[in-house]
Amino acid sequence: MAPRKIIIDTDPGQDDAVALLLALASPEDLDVLGITAVAGNVPLPLTQRNTRIVCELSGRTDVPVFAGCDAPLVRALVTAEHVHGKTGLDGPPLAAPTIPLQEQHAVDFIVETLRNGPEGTVTLCPLGPLTNIATAFQKAPDIIPKVAEIVLMGGAYFEVGNITPAAEFNIYVDPEAADIVISSGAPIVMLPLDVTHKALTSKARVDAFRAFGTPVGDMTAAWTDFFERFDKEKYGAAGAPLHDPCVIAYLLDPTLFTGRHINVAVEITSELTLGMTVADWWRVTDRPPNALFIGDVDDAGFFALLTDRVARL
Ligand code: BDR
Ligand code: CA
Repeated sequence: MAPRKIIIDTDPGQDDAVALLLALASPEDLDVLGITAVAGNVPLPLTQRNTRIVCELSGRTDVPVFAGCDAPLVRALVTAEHVHGKTGLDGPPLAAPTIPLQEQHAVDFIVETLRNGPEGTVTLCPLGPLTNIATAFQKAPDIIPKVAEIVLMGGAYFEVGNITPAAEFNIYVDPEAADIVISSGAPIVMLPLDVTHKALTSKARVDAFRAFGTPVGDMTAAWTDFFERFDKEKYGAAGAPLHDPCVIAYLLDPTLFTGRHINVAVEITSELTLGMTVADWWRVTDRPPNALFIGDVDDAGFFALLTDRVARL
């Protein structure tokens, strides 16, 4: 089968970086048409820079990187330096990237790519706030039916929130954008905190990255080590949740995951629960299903896949 064509929309972030490595290490399965950066974990100048750093580290300097929206649709940007550090990719020092940033705006790249391709051939993979994707849908609604699938990291039901008591970070930062995307009618797969909090690093799993003896292995270990401290302190978790790599792992092997096809709605008015993903997990409403909401992962299988693929770089 021909590799699946994808656009990754991202705000690196150590877990975004590991997701990018997993995708870039898997050319037989994934044809990464481009990577679009969005403001999220840190402001846009850093997320686009970090994206280029990761592409360069992976050796995949052939993949074009675009900068997109620098602020949510209607709100001020909320960032997460408390999780990812000042640069978004804190850990060992990183050299400035040499690969160029494309001149085209990320939103125009998304619109053009979907418009110019046949229907149902390009999958969007958002790993951050949904601002770029929602802006593309607002600007060019004709592209919505052309999307093959949107496989995104965001939201929570049983785990509720990580940035507020009610909301997950990616959805909270731009709830209006999330609402536009999730109610767009495009086929959606959501990887919420309910599943990503089950994809935890451990000492053995991080040691396995280090054991590659490669710059990519060392960096992956250092990034996950850095990222781990936050969830250990906050949740008393055993390790770091590799949120965003779950999106790419789902594309590579969906049999690792289970979920329910249900209705998901985004709270955009209440100050208290802004950005909450109201997931009808128990199917207690008549609202029609609009997303496959993932709840579980074979975490050993997930880490075996991740380790096996990233070792190639
Ligand atoms: C999400 O927020 C970001 O901090 C991570 O990169 C991930 O995409 C988890 O809530
Ligand atoms: Ca992210």
